[in-house]
Amino acid sequence: MMSSVPAVSVQGLRVERGGRTVLRDLSFEVPRGSVLGLIGPSGCGKTTLMRCLVGVQIVKAGTVTVLGEPAGSKGLRRRVGYATQTPAVYADLSVRENMRYFAAVLGAPRTDVDRVIDEVGLGHHRDQVVATLSGGQLNRANLAVALLGDPELLVLDEPTVGLDPVLREELWELFRELSGRGRTLVVSSHVMDEAVRTDRLLLMREGEFLADGAPDELTRLTGTADLEAAFLHLIHEHAGSPA
Ligand SMILES: Nc1ncnc2c1ncn2[C@@H]1O[C@H](COP(=O)(O)OP(=O)(O)OP(=O)(O)O)[C@@H](O)[C@H]1O
Ligand SMILES: [Mg+2]
Repeated sequence: MMSSVPAVSVQGLRVERGGRTVLRDLSFEVPRGSVLGLIGPSGCGKTTLMRCLVGVQIVKAGTVTVLGEPAGSKGLRRRVGYATQTPAVYADLSVRENMRYFAAVLGAPRTDVDRVIDEVGLGHHRDQVVATLSGGQLNRANLAVALLGDPELLVLDEPTVGLDPVLREELWELFRELSGRGRTLVVSSHVMDEAVRTDRLLLMREGEFLADGAPDELTRLTGTADLEAAFLHLIHEHAGSPA
């Protein structure tokens, strides 16, 4: 096995959307078994970057390699799980019916259906129709789809949005557990307090990386007490530097 190949390798990535450059010359790698946080304000390009990783975004320049293959390759379909920011589950099916359907589409074992429902904490809502779930429950149902088939790389777009602190904590424990089993996670968020749970952070702003490093490294380098302050420090530093 080529386990030394990084889970993700991005080189010189540039993306234009609606005639504007929304990702500018991004390069980074994600080692296997790690949790990468993609943090930045609304509109900075998190979803666009994730779309590149799963191979559904037209790129203007650069390369995106996932598990040793070009992003979007057919062979990656079962090896990469993607939870979109806008839930992709069917409103008129129950949680379990949705998982059965997606498991069949993805070729995941049927035993995965109950496993993923339990992992996201929806055990008591298995037979509930998705249209009647709360916002946070809906998000978790959407996340469960990405876990089907136990993919090697999980790309999760704001999976904890709208969840209370206890549920967020539980999901982060799940993410850490998955990485402990060698799975790689790319998780976006605009909540700074989640960022400390990652192995490495990419702080994004307007399609660029302001900083790249472990959470404690970023606070140390900026001489700040927490990541929120580190981010603000970096933004001001960036604004002050010549264009
Ligand atoms: N289909 C599209 N056509 C044109 N521009 C788009 C399209 N989708 C996104 N954009 C623009 O690309 C930029 C990046 O958007 P993106 O959705 O990647 O941001 P984001 O960081 O995920 O934001 P959020 O935190 O709100 O989800 C934004 O300026 C957005 O307006
Ligand atoms: Mg987004």
